[in-house]
Amino acid sequence: MKIGVFDSGVGGLSVLKKIKEKIDFADVIYYGDSINSPYGNKSIEEIQELCLKIGEFLIDNQVNIIVIACNTATAAALETLRERFTSVPIVGVVQPGATMAIKQSKNKKIGVISTPLTAKSGVYEKAIKGLNPKYDVFQKGCDLLCPMIEKGWESSEKNTEILKSYINQLPDEIDTLILGCTHYPLIREEIEKVVDKKIVDPAEETAMHVLFELNRLALKKGVKKSRKEKISIDYFITGDVNKFKEVGERFLGEKLSNIYQPLIG
Ligand code: DGL
Repeated sequence: MKIGVFDSGVGGLSVLKKIKEKIDFADVIYYGDSINSPYGNKSIEEIQELCLKIGEFLIDNQVNIIVIACNTATAAALETLRERFTSVPIVGVVQPGATMAIKQSKNKKIGVISTPLTAKSGVYEKAIKGLNPKYDVFQKGCDLLCPMIEKGWESSEKNTEILKSYINQLPDEIDTLILGCTHYPLIREEIEKVVDKKIVDPAEETAMHVLFELNRLALKKGVKKSRKEKISIDYFITGDVNKFKEVGERFLGEKLSNIYQPLIG
């Protein structure tokens, strides 16, 4: 079996990391659209167009499932992708993140940091209130964080001040904070230093959804699930491959090989 995972760059690696921890019977194609990053400052139509191209690439490469490892792309294009690619299940990160946050929050006040587009779309508020209308959701769009992580957090100036300035704009009454951009788990330690709330990384629950869908597919289609010693991962990166390798290796704690540049992008 083959899983297709995509993001606007390195952020989706936070989802890939959890998938690798939970699923040992499927190979992965990872697509990082770093040449078009950040998605969070683009229009919904632009993101939908980019995601449709990536979807075609993944389907052409015979994936059994598509994982939108990007909150912004989930907010902008989940429905579009589901309408276009009906032959495979498509999993986003928002619903799993909302489910986790509801389990965590005691006082029913949840904060979300994300890209501006995700914040503006209100997608987390809709998902959380759809599960339980009694929750209050506060969202903050953080336009600089994703580009800083993509470039290399350490090399970005005033990184802690900028991070704090965003967090401080959320009401103190929240007891849970969702990392509503898949790039943010890459700086989770830095976030934990400036936030004293429960942190929710939607990646964990997203990986559970992927496992559930693959098990369902295996049963339905009679596909054999054979455990692999080591799953194979091919990376297709549209932008700077060396930067991706450097940031990705630091985050995953292992050497990355099989990195290619796709012909589209
Ligand atoms: N990792 C993407 C997300 O979860 C970042 C989007 C961007 O490129 O701005 O939203």
